Parts: sequence; structure tokens; C-alpha cells
Amino acid sequence: MKKLVFISVLSLCTLNLAHANGEATYKQVCLACHGAGVAGAPKVGDKAKWAPLIKEGQATLTAHGYVGVRGMPPKGGKPDLTLAQFADAVVYMANQSGGTWKSPDEKLMHAIHEEVEKRKKQLAKK
Ligand code: HEC
Repeated sequence: MKKLVFISVLSLCTLNLAHANGEATYKQVCLACHGAGVAGAPKVGDKAKWAPLIKEGQATLTAHGYVGVRGMPPKGGKPDLTLAQFADAVVYMANQSGGTWKSPDEKLMHAIHEEVEKRKKQLAKK
């Protein structure tokens, strides 16, 4: 019985952490530009700006942001940021701006990863 309680407390913590991480990463790394809309960054909370981005789909948008696009530095300018951390920050940003995205499951992470590789190849050709 004790063990069961322990496990359920543990899984609650993990859920909270997963959610808090996207927000924490956003505040540490992305807020500087996306909070105020620096250099044309889509401002978090600006639903009109985010609607077409959200429409691109979670895999595509996350991958393109991770690789970098115009004023958006790869990995938000933090080279040690993992794809999973970046993806959760994107979820947080999208959901503050009209989206209903979830932290990616394994299948979606795989799709994001494939899109990252595709994007890198495209950019290398230019
Ligand atoms: C140095 C400023 C800067 C930082 C830091 C930054 N961004 Fe951006 N971001 C931009 C700009 C500028 C754009 C708009 C690029 C464009 O479309 O021209 C952008 C666009 C994006 C997009 C849309 C990409 C697309 O395909 O249009 C996503 C998603 C994104 N950022 C996520 C993030 C996340 C997540 C972080 C933090 C981990 C982050 N950004 C940190 C400047 C920044």
C-alpha cells in the first residue's frame, strides 16, 4: 500500500515537472525575444500571429524553430538545449497563444526529429 502511494505521488511530480519545464525553458531562453516580439519574433499571447504558425502543425513548427529560421537562432541560441526541451517550450508558447498542444509523445518526437533532419538537408543545399 505504501509503495502504491509513493508511486502515485511520484507520477504526479513527473507530470508537473514536464509541464513546468516548458515554461521554465521559455522563461530562461525564449522570453527575451518572444516576450516582446524582438526582431519580428512571434510574440507569445498574440493569437493572430500564432494562428498560422499553429496551423503549420506541431512537428513542422517545432523542427523549423529548432533548426532556426531567419532571426530565430538555432535552439533559441542555447546550444545545449535538447530537442525535447525545445519542443516543450514551443508547446508552452503555442498554448499561451491559442493552441491546445500537448508535450510530444514518442511518436511525435520521432516525427519532429525526422522533420529536423529534412530541414537541415534542405538548408545545406542552398
Ligand atoms: C534572439 C531572439 C530569439 C530567441 C532567444 C528565440 N527566438 Fe524564436 N524566433 C525569433 C524570431 C526573430 C522569429 C521569427 C523568425 C521569422 O519567421 O522570421 C522566431 C520564430 C520562432 C518560431 C516560429 C518558427 C517558424 O517556423 O516560423 C518558433 C516555434 C520559435 N521561434 C520558438 C522559440 C523557442 C522555443 C525559443 C526558446 C527555446 C526561441 N524561439 C527563442 C527570435 C528568437
